[in-house]
Formats: sequence, C-alpha cells, structure tokens
Amino acid sequence: MTRALFAATALAAIMLAPAAASARTAFDGVWLFDKAPPMPGVTMMEVTSRGTRIEGRVTTLWYGPITMIDPRVENGRLIFDARNINDRDHPFRRWSVSLDKGQVRLQGQIWATEVDATGYRGTAKAAKARAFKVAPLPPLGAPIASRLAATPPMGWSSWNRFAEHIDDETVRAMADAMVSSGLRDAGYRYVNIDDGWQGRRDANGVLQPNDKFPDMKALTAYVHARGLKIGIYSSPGPRTCAGYEGSYGHVAQDARTFADWGFDYLKYDLCSGEWFYPNADTVKRSYREMGAALQATGRGIVFSLCEYGRFEVGSWGRDVGGQLWRTTGDITDDYETMAKIGFERNGDPDHAGPHGWNDADMLEIGNGGMSLDEYRTHMTLWAMSASPLMMGHDLRRTTPEMLALLTNRHVIAVDQDPRGIQGKAVRKDGRIEVWAKPLADGRVALALFNRGTDEASFALTAADAGLRSISQVQDLWSGATAAGLPESYTVPAHGAVMVAVRGG
Ligand code: GAL
Repeated sequence: MTRALFAATALAAIMLAPAAASARTAFDGVWLFDKAPPMPGVTMMEVTSRGTRIEGRVTTLWYGPITMIDPRVENGRLIFDARNINDRDHPFRRWSVSLDKGQVRLQGQIWATEVDATGYRGTAKAAKARAFKVAPLPPLGAPIASRLAATPPMGWSSWNRFAEHIDDETVRAMADAMVSSGLRDAGYRYVNIDDGWQGRRDANGVLQPNDKFPDMKALTAYVHARGLKIGIYSSPGPRTCAGYEGSYGHVAQDARTFADWGFDYLKYDLCSGEWFYPNADTVKRSYREMGAALQATGRGIVFSLCEYGRFEVGSWGRDVGGQLWRTTGDITDDYETMAKIGFERNGDPDHAGPHGWNDADMLEIGNGGMSLDEYRTHMTLWAMSASPLMMGHDLRRTTPEMLALLTNRHVIAVDQDPRGIQGKAVRKDGRIEVWAKPLADGRVALALFNRGTDEASFALTAADAGLRSISQVQDLWSGATAAGLPESYTVPAHGAVMVAVRGG
C-alpha cells in the first residue's frame, strides 16, 4: 500500500466497531496505559476480533490513533505493522504485544522513539473517555492576501539559545537588551517566544501558558511599551516538537487567544502534525486553516510557517497566509550546518519577495560555536538571501564584535532592500562563490565567499553584477567607498567580503 493510500485508509479506519460480544483472542478488548513514556504518549490500545479477522489501534497523545496493519497472533503475541514517519528506509515498523499476568506489554518504534509500555484492562467507558477526537481539516480555500512583512522580519527568538528553558523574566530581559544594545534601532523588532511556554487547556479548551508565564497580556504590554513586537509559537499537531500542547482541534480558538493576549507573530511548527498531514494537500490545508484563523482575528499577526521546506512550501506559503517559511530542518551553531543551509538549502529565489520570504532559520551569531569570520559569512549569506534575521543568542551577552556584525546598517539594508530580491550565486570556482543581489537604488550587492579552509585571493568583476563597467564600490562591512574594484580580494578561510557596486 502506498503511503498516501494508507493515510487515507488509516483515517477512514479510525472508527472501529465496538468490541465483539465474544472475544476471539486474548488481546481483545480495551487496554489502558497510564505511565507510558511521553513520546508518543500511548494512552490506550483497542483490539477487536471476529472470526479470523483482527482489527485494532493504539491511541497516542502525539499522533492520535495508530491503526494496526495486518494484525495477527503468532506464538502467543499480537503482531502488527504501523505506519512510521521521518524514516524513508522504514515507512512501516513491526510492533508486538505480549500478555503476562493479565497485563499487556506493547513494544514498537516510531521515528527515533522506542515504544515499550505496559497496559491493564479497561472498560468501554474508559475507552470513550480516552478516545482521540479527530479534527476534520477544512478544504483549501482561496489564497489569503497579505499586507504584512514588506521586508524580511527581523528580531530575536528564544529557541537557539534557551530551547524550552524560557520564561517571562528572560523574555522581558531580551526586550530590554534589544533596546539598550541598539539592536532595536538597527531594525530588530520581534521578540519571539518559541516552544516551551504552553500549559494545559482550561475547561473551555482555552490554552493556558505554563507557570513560567504568569500573565501573557502583561508580558506583551511590556514588550510593546518598548517599541517592539512579540511573537508566540504553536503546532498544527496535538503536540509541539518539545512535547507541549499544540493547536490540533483548537486552531481558531488558539488564534483568538494569541490575538487577545496581544501577540504580533506566530511560528507554526509542523511537529506531530506531520503524522496527520503527510502530503502537500493536507499540509497546505492545515497551514491555511491557521492562516485564515489569524486573519479572522483582525489583528496583524505575521504567520511564520515551519514545516522544514517540505512540498515546495515557497510555491504556496503566501497563499495560505504565510509571510515566511522555513526552507530546512534546524540550524545548529557550527559552520558546516550553517553553510549547508545558507549556500544550498535557502529556498528558491523565485518564491521570495515583499510579503513572502524564504526563511533559512534563526541566526546563531553570538552563540559561540563559530569564528568571527564564520559568523560574518552567516550574516552576509542571510542578508544576500533576504532571509528573515532572527537573532538566536542571549542578547544580554552580545560582545562588541557580534554587535558590530548584527547592527551593520549597510548589511542590514541589503537584507531589508525594498525590492526584495533574493540574491543567488552567479559564479562558483572551487571553494569560492560569488553572489549577486540587485538593489532598489540601482546598485548590485555582491558577496564573495570562501568556503575553503585556507585563505584565498579572488577578483570580483563588473560581469558578476551583470554590468559592463563599475563607477562606484562600497565595502559594506567597512563602509569604505572606492571608484572601482580592486584587482583582487583576500578572503579568510570560511570568510566573506560584501560590497555594493554601481554601474557606469
Ligand atoms: C523544531 C523547529 C525549531 C524549534 C523547535 C522547538 O521543529 O524547527 O526551530 O522551533 O522545533 O521544539
């Protein structure tokens, strides 16, 4: 069975027939799991058999019901296959259930997680209470028009430095540091809370923050009072990537909550949603559902799509209401990963432009894992790519060197150029790459990258900028201007040179 066909049948099979009056296997019935590991959070197993035909499913917090494929009893064990995710080599995994002293032991694997959980017999009533409520996906509606993010969003996000160890006090401290360091005045505006803020839903289903965030309205007011904007994070799945409550089944309600609290930006991260939305059609519909819900709040909330660049997101990200969309999996604070994303996985330039940007992921500048030259390359690449500039370090600990990289107004102006053209490589020569990005004032930004591990000398030419001759060159990192290009530039290992040239 193909994945897509299986996904369709799995959804259709979610409604199981009630337990047969006479159980045919020792596994028939409802089994409850109270202490299963949090991921994928097995809560229940249901097995029904009629004659030789066995049906069953395992209910989980992350993925809802996992349908048993081809369940059969072999050597006293119940064996079945289950759909897997994120593993091309193993689209399905073999699971097994054994019985011992009236308890079942369920073992299997999904993604990178080994499942090993022990369950006890439950009643049909208990099964009803634990049943996963499947949320139907609305059809893909008309494209959503966006007026936000005329230039790539700039700001800060908590994930790269703090992961889920984020709280109200730290967010306030970041807002203060953004102002006192001059980062706000350099153009950085959003202070974004990533994963880890969520608590539980109240009796009406309204999502509450956890106790690290005692008062969301007070927090957004604090950030707004400093001339900044503030962002929040959720997932179309039941669980976020760090295992917190997602928006599955509560999409419109959560959009209203975020608007009511005063948020200006939402990062919507696929996470467990990839189980429910495994193809282009369903992913689009799930993102559009939130895009439309955000628009319906009437509040200008920037919508950041995080589905790791799947299904050519750049070609439909705008239509579902997005202003930026991640082009890859996660960045890490090392040259290899940063360079792989920045040079090779930063999205199709044809998809980028005002109100819609390829997001090469948050910056690592200032986190300590790269050299000054490597961080200069990071900033140069992101600016040449018109990528959003979301800092990812502890703003209270910005060294003068990092501050200079992050606040260089010439470099920021290239990223924020109103023409919104995403630059790209125009020449590659061994480990050297030349990139060009036409600017609104008629100049062309050129970047010269040395991807090698030895210093290298290399010339830029007018042709690199699509020009016949050059009348002015500005070195964007130093600000110095000259009438023409030098014979060559010496670029340090993993380093970059960035200039803007005018023809004439
Ligand atoms: C990842 C995402 C990261 C971060 C993390 C939070 O899926 O790509 O940027 O948001 O989840 O759990």
